[in-house]
Amino acid sequence: MDIVGQFPLFYFPDYGSAWMMGITGTIHILASHTSVGAAILFAFLAHKAYKENRSDLYPYMKKYGMFLLIFSYVIGSITGPGIWYTATAASPRGISALIHNFVWVWATEWVFFVYEVIGVFALVYFMNKIDKKTHLKLTYSFALASVGTLALIIGIISFMMWPGTDAYYTTGSASDAFFGINTFPHMFLRIGFMVMMSGVIGIVISSSMKKEKPELSDELSRKMGFISILGGAITLFGFVWYMQTLPENAHAIFAYDRDAIIQNRIILMVLFILYFGLAIVRPRLIHPAFASLMIVVILVSGLWKGEKLRESMRKPYVAGQYIYSNQIISRDVEGKNIKSELPLIAQKGLLKTNPWIPQNLRTITPSNQLEAGELLTKIACSSCHSLEKSGKYRPMKDRIAGMDKEAIKGILYGIGAGAFTHMPTLQLPEEEYEAIATWLVAQDY
Ligand code: HEC
Repeated sequence: MDIVGQFPLFYFPDYGSAWMMGITGTIHILASHTSVGAAILFAFLAHKAYKENRSDLYPYMKKYGMFLLIFSYVIGSITGPGIWYTATAASPRGISALIHNFVWVWATEWVFFVYEVIGVFALVYFMNKIDKKTHLKLTYSFALASVGTLALIIGIISFMMWPGTDAYYTTGSASDAFFGINTFPHMFLRIGFMVMMSGVIGIVISSSMKKEKPELSDELSRKMGFISILGGAITLFGFVWYMQTLPENAHAIFAYDRDAIIQNRIILMVLFILYFGLAIVRPRLIHPAFASLMIVVILVSGLWKGEKLRESMRKPYVAGQYIYSNQIISRDVEGKNIKSELPLIAQKGLLKTNPWIPQNLRTITPSNQLEAGELLTKIACSSCHSLEKSGKYRPMKDRIAGMDKEAIKGILYGIGAGAFTHMPTLQLPEEEYEAIATWLVAQDY
């Protein structure tokens, strides 16, 4: 049968389903990265407590651990499945591609994660209840499990940007998919950020201990300041390395906003160097509420912007450089027996090959042309452009404002010929172009 493997369209007006993904993802990343960073920090503190016989560090670790349990693990565990739901709705074939490539990697990650969750409970509960050495071993294994979850998930997420090796397309093997050239730089980037986050949260906790234990609070705030600066430096190094391992399309998209992005990163860097400097030089001046506010700053201007950038640099693909954001498979992957759907769509059109098109729209007639045009535009364009006048997500209205039908058709022909590296090459039969252009003009943007 001449059909393409599409799923029903999940349409989210104004903001686009990609933003829903981004919002859930950003919150999840804050929580999950904090937990991995904290696991490394715990190993460091437990080591210090053991080697230097510093029992006074335990109450701090306990407080930190409780915060983690509530903040990272509860929020992380809620938003984790949230990502699955959102991604499955927004990009079913993207998720399907990841599952088909990495099912065992994900299963392994889950085992590490279970260990991690049990580990953090054990770590907090057994503090001061078991001997220091055993506790130290526990923190080491907790740190290993945490970093393990990170290492595994990074290979998967990096594949979304691109496999990073041509071998993958012929072998289809999980290791070729996993070990692309941008997996390790990506890992460094994230580890740096995690270490920095562990310090940022550490300052929240240490500053809240100012009254009860002023000396210890100062010492720890200082340490956290240094740790954060170290993490920040690793992040910066990772980012520069990461950028050099990206595919061409990513650079093309980055170039669109390069100045704004670099400016934002420099402002953030200066702000945080000042903040960490303050933690080192004048720890007493930091109020816990202010320290908490800095987490929000990271969430909104650091992570949200960064994740949006990563998402947008993947365009026109959603995963592996063979699935477009609009859920169409755009190239053969011999190793997985996957065939490009573009020739069939070019020949028969989307209305005839997508199994979810209502019967009355399968053939375009003068009376259903507008309705068919709307559906086609939603299928072909809405994963990257919101279509409402009030749309916020790369709004179509700004892209085609003032164009007449012929000009819009010109764009569509360009898209069909692959003239825009950041947009899917989508060739359609003339009548479908006509329907899309007719509907877009009727929107009167
Ligand atoms: C995979 C994501 C994606 C899809 C799907 C997509 N676009 Fe785009 N589009 C982009 C990106 C990225 C840009 C460039 C950045 C920008 O304009 O913000 C862009 C830019 C444009 C522009 C401005 C052209 C330029 O380069 O100046 C037009 C017009 C446009 N898109 C129309 C469409 C239409 C019509 C569709 C559906 C047939 C569509 N796009 C589908 C991602 C996409």
